Amino acid sequence: MNIVQIGYGYWGANVARNIALSSKTNLKALVDTSEDRRQAARTAFQSQVEISADYHSYLNDPTVDGFALAIQTGPAFEVAKQIMSAGKHLFLEKPMAESGEKAQQLTDLAEEKGVVLHVDHIMLFHPIIRRIKHMYDDDELGKLVYFDFSRMNLGPIRKDVNAMLDLAVHDLAVIDFISGGVEPFHVEAIGAKHYGNQETLTYLTLNYPGFLAHIKSSWISPIKERRTIIGFEKKMVIFDDMKTVEKLTIYDHGIVEAGEEYGAYEFRARSGDILIPYIPAEDALRNSIEHFADCATSGRQSIANGRHGVKIARILDAARARLNANPGDETEHI
Ligand SMILES: NC(=O)c1ccc[n+]([C@@H]2O[C@H](COP(=O)([O-])OP(=O)(O)OC[C@H]3O[C@@H](n4cnc5c(N)ncnc54)[C@H](O)[C@@H]3O)[C@@H](O)[C@H]2O)c1
Repeated sequence: MNIVQIGYGYWGANVARNIALSSKTNLKALVDTSEDRRQAARTAFQSQVEISADYHSYLNDPTVDGFALAIQTGPAFEVAKQIMSAGKHLFLEKPMAESGEKAQQLTDLAEEKGVVLHVDHIMLFHPIIRRIKHMYDDDELGKLVYFDFSRMNLGPIRKDVNAMLDLAVHDLAVIDFISGGVEPFHVEAIGAKHYGNQETLTYLTLNYPGFLAHIKSSWISPIKERRTIIGFEKKMVIFDDMKTVEKLTIYDHGIVEAGEEYGAYEFRARSGDILIPYIPAEDALRNSIEHFADCATSGRQSIANGRHGVKIARILDAARARLNANPGDETEHI
């Protein structure tokens, strides 16, 4: 599959490297408006890849099958529309759009044009998340009780979106994927804009039918953390993506009814084995790109298609409304 990539910034460099390395994709051209970034691309790819400042000529190029778009979220919307209007498949970096309404417009356009729209919700393609999903679907873990996500680092402070749109989007996509598409019926969110016009720290709490979720997104933490705790009725799991190996720990722990001696309604903690399964390392970004290529070649829908993206964008709309709601008066006591 021949791909033209627009945007060769911090993340775009990773996307381009993986497109170039995969046997399923060919990186035909890299486009960036910045001369510095074009020079960086020339250094990385020598003469194997065309380097350009303008993507328009590729829109009607019959040798181009699809585009990868790794620019800021705001301008990406119009560029994404041009790409799909030209009948080209699109690998779109997260967050899919600034609002659910815009995400819906992109989804409608993809369906109208019959092209694959794949949102890079990269965690869906992470081997650990996939293992947890398999275990859940096979009923090894029991029903969902809660998700607890911590995604924090010192920067980078983005201008185009807040920490919630940048980071929580991954966690909401994971909940959607593991739960099989369960949607929340209530969301609360608080955040703080300590530096600039965007929230650099947000806390989301969500009520889903049968389980809760808490999502912490921070650009102002002294340490980097990428930790997911999921409580199921039979077992509990911790996925620590900062570890280089042994990222997943499965606790055969739970809460059970205590029996007669504690009274009819008492529960007690149950502790069992702790298992660290061997899961071969895979590059989630490579998996995401190859899934996009497989869908574009076979005509199948991506598991991270527009409809999935719209669900996440709408939850973020609701969360943003809560962030913007009157936060109360500091002089009052609660
Ligand atoms: N999937 C992930 O885990 C993940 C991780 C990090 C970033 N991202 C996403 O990737 C996207 C890019 O992030 P980044 O950190 O690389 O940003 P960046 O600012 O470092 O890079 C953006 C690049 O796009 C170029 N650009 C902007 N408009 C252009 C246009 N119209 N034509 C050509 N080039 C243009 C800029 O010159 C810049 O080099 C964002 O949407 C971000 O959310 C995804």
